[in-house]
Amino acid sequence: MTTVNRIYLSPPHVGAEERRLLLEAFESNWIAPVGPHLDRFEQEFAERLGMPGAVAVSSGTAALHLALHIVGVARHDEVLTSTLTFAATANAITYLGARPVFLDSTAATWTMDPGLLEEELEACARRGRLPKAVMAVDLYGQCADYDKLLDACRKFEVPLIADASEALGATYRGEPAGRFGEMAAFSFNGNKIITSGGGGMLVSKRVEWMARARYLATQARDPAPHYQHSEIGFNYRMSNLLAAVGLGQLRSLDRLLAQRRGHNEYYRRHLGSLPGIDVMPEASYGRSNCWLTCITVDPNRFGATRETLRQHLEMSNIESRPVWKPMHLQPAFAGCRVRGGAVAARLFERGLCLPSGSSLTEKDRERVVDAIEMWREWGRPHPDGTVSRSVHSANPSIL
Ligand SMILES: Cc1ncc(COP(=O)(O)O)c(C=O)c1O
Repeated sequence: MTTVNRIYLSPPHVGAEERRLLLEAFESNWIAPVGPHLDRFEQEFAERLGMPGAVAVSSGTAALHLALHIVGVARHDEVLTSTLTFAATANAITYLGARPVFLDSTAATWTMDPGLLEEELEACARRGRLPKAVMAVDLYGQCADYDKLLDACRKFEVPLIADASEALGATYRGEPAGRFGEMAAFSFNGNKIITSGGGGMLVSKRVEWMARARYLATQARDPAPHYQHSEIGFNYRMSNLLAAVGLGQLRSLDRLLAQRRGHNEYYRRHLGSLPGIDVMPEASYGRSNCWLTCITVDPNRFGATRETLRQHLEMSNIESRPVWKPMHLQPAFAGCRVRGGAVAARLFERGLCLPSGSSLTEKDRERVVDAIEMWREWGRPHPDGTVSRSVHSANPSIL
């Protein structure tokens, strides 16, 4: 049996510059959650987004937790968020003793439906109990529709926080993700468009909130020669060593973005016209960072379910992942209110994330496309688990 290399969904992609900066940080002995690399990472990140500052923290989840805390979310409050997201978005809400209320996505963007947000805010106002915040999610690198979401939030004077964990480098009406709402959080988890080996960043146009985030993230230590604390804080700062890796990655962001977009265009070109396969739409209001290219599989037209296709890819040693299972279908959030939910449920049932890492080679992505096309041709896996381009020439009709 021929063995082929495994193709991963979105592996880390680091190079010589990250290594150089990491060793530089190590040798400088700034092996702590302070140091020059951390300062530079924050500064260059803020500059890239055109923000007055940025606070590097230990994870995207920590950044979300801090943001919610700073806008005043507390026990028994409600926070409206997207049901179609990774659990960290909703988990952060629960850390404060608050309750998430889930909203469906639009089929056109996969992000929070602004019409449903307005409806839910109106219903909350009628009940005399507005949510403490709204948390929008920039899904798979596509910004939420901020003009509409912010209009609804302003009408009811509810602050909006952006979970931009997946969206570094994306734009909305020409402006970078992270510039919308009161605060925004990013993730540098190993699978993201840039990684620090784990970490996150919090940004806001309000400098006083940035100062407060830095204070809360360092155990809320008051200015005093001894250890003085007037409130409860967190140990959430990023290590200087990890910031060095993040800095190297940030400096490569344009190249990494171009590579992911190249994969997205390739998949669109080769899979977009296959019966039963649709590539996640790119909203006309912005430019996705193409963090993960996702497709939906219509079993009636494609001849297999998303799960069968995923298993088929797995047999070809290709990692793919179902689209996020919506939060309103998760046992952990049973009992939470949801408005809509059918769009997200259908995207989960049919959606599949394809290998999209910036280190994916042209051969790798050909293998992915071949494996999918092969399913259509044969309706079963290749006998030895491998694929070849000869499928194309033998069967031009499936291209
Ligand atoms: C939408 C979303 N929110 C939050 C997070 C949490 O980020 P982290 O893993 O850095 O805590 C992630 C990714 O992991 C994510 O995809």
